[in-house]
Amino acid sequence: MKIAVIGTGYVGLVTAAGLAEFGHRVIGADKDEDKIGRISKGVVPIYEPGLNELIAGNVRKKNLSFRSDLSAVIGEADVIFVCVGTPQRPDGSADMSQVEEVSRLIADNLDRYKLVVEKSTVPVKTSYWIKRTIGLYKKTDTDFDIASNPEFLREGSAVSDFLQPDRIIVGVETARARDLLCGIYAKFRNRVVVTNIDTAELIKHASNSFLALKISYINLIASICDKTEANVEQVAEGMGLDPRIGNRFLKAGIGYGGSCFPKDIKALVKIGEDLGVDMSLLKEADRINFDRIRVFVEKIKQALWILKDKRIAVLGLAFKPETDDIREAPSISLIRGLIGEGARLRLYDPQAMENMKAIYPAEPDRLEYCDSPYRAAEGANALVILTEWPEFSGLDLGRVREAMANPIIIDGRNVFDPAVPRRLGFEYYSIGRK
Ligand code: UGA
Repeated sequence: MKIAVIGTGYVGLVTAAGLAEFGHRVIGADKDEDKIGRISKGVVPIYEPGLNELIAGNVRKKNLSFRSDLSAVIGEADVIFVCVGTPQRPDGSADMSQVEEVSRLIADNLDRYKLVVEKSTVPVKTSYWIKRTIGLYKKTDTDFDIASNPEFLREGSAVSDFLQPDRIIVGVETARARDLLCGIYAKFRNRVVVTNIDTAELIKHASNSFLALKISYINLIASICDKTEANVEQVAEGMGLDPRIGNRFLKAGIGYGGSCFPKDIKALVKIGEDLGVDMSLLKEADRINFDRIRVFVEKIKQALWILKDKRIAVLGLAFKPETDDIREAPSISLIRGLIGEGARLRLYDPQAMENMKAIYPAEPDRLEYCDSPYRAAEGANALVILTEWPEFSGLDLGRVREAMANPIIIDGRNVFDPAVPRRLGFEYYSIGRK
């Protein structure tokens, strides 16, 4: 059986490499010839721990190759995973034009039975449209099936999430599609949940929106902690011991970012509203998340009063650790806010600086990119932490204090035990803790 994975973004690359690792013959395909050229030479376009090695190992074993001739790849494949982007449109809904384009290409090249698997995060009912599109445009009377197999990998741990999944959702409408897809994931037989396609599509949006809701909830509780003597980490620990709640995704901070939660929660709101369902619960969770930046800027102002011409070291730009991804990262709005107040910024991130330069190019004495956290701290009136990279919790705070003009830390991710920086003479502010 030959598998084609169309789209070489996060999900596509990890899916292609992961399925090859399971022993299948996989072609990763993308219409972007340059990108395919680079990947074929071993230059993986994203930073994701373990991905380079997984790709290189499977290319060497000849389980995996990359091509840009989409029509030919589709023609050769028995199973086609659709992993193209579904970016957000201005009204919050997902732009499905790339999915439509691939569906038409599949229709053009449908010369024998194929299983088309949607893996991109898509609104419920997308499979209906893929099926209709292939049905409308196919040139022969060939049979095909559609399936939904949403992906739950997290950036930063994508490879292990794919290779050791909690669950595999198989949304199908025929036994043939079920057997094919379950066969691909045969080694995880006891973790497969078979549903109809609408259900599988909804599981993905419902999961991401629930996790986003959980984060906004704990951030709201953190705001109460900020105004009382309560400690949000202990509140989260106490709540999380109840197995009905669980302790994960209860880390308070400056809010969720990334290419998934902000987009998916808005998409589910739009889906629900289009169906006449009151979606105010999720709208509020999204609004609370948006408001985290204002709350954090207020915190910085409480420490510095006037921000104009203050030197601020900003540690962490990626939306989470272990990635160079800055899509919807809280750092983007925060930097905009600080620049708006006239602050002078010194930025550092272990992986994401190149991506951030495309949004905020360096400007001498106003916005500088530094090659280490210590350089960023030089002469700073305050240091803010926006991403909990392990490198930051291991900082030599004595050295940081030496470098800074004023020893003030405003920690948006609760990286330190408050007693530690305070012992070294820092004024230390964090989220939901005294
Ligand atoms: C998320 C989901 O966790 C994956 O299961 C899903 O497959 C993926 O979206 C997707 O739809 O493709 P990801 O966006 O990579 O994965 O990152 P998360 O680890 O979920 O973190 C998202 C954001 O929430 C980050 O900004 C993180 O800092 C924030 N977060 C997370 C918190 O503020 N507190 C927490 O307790 C957890």
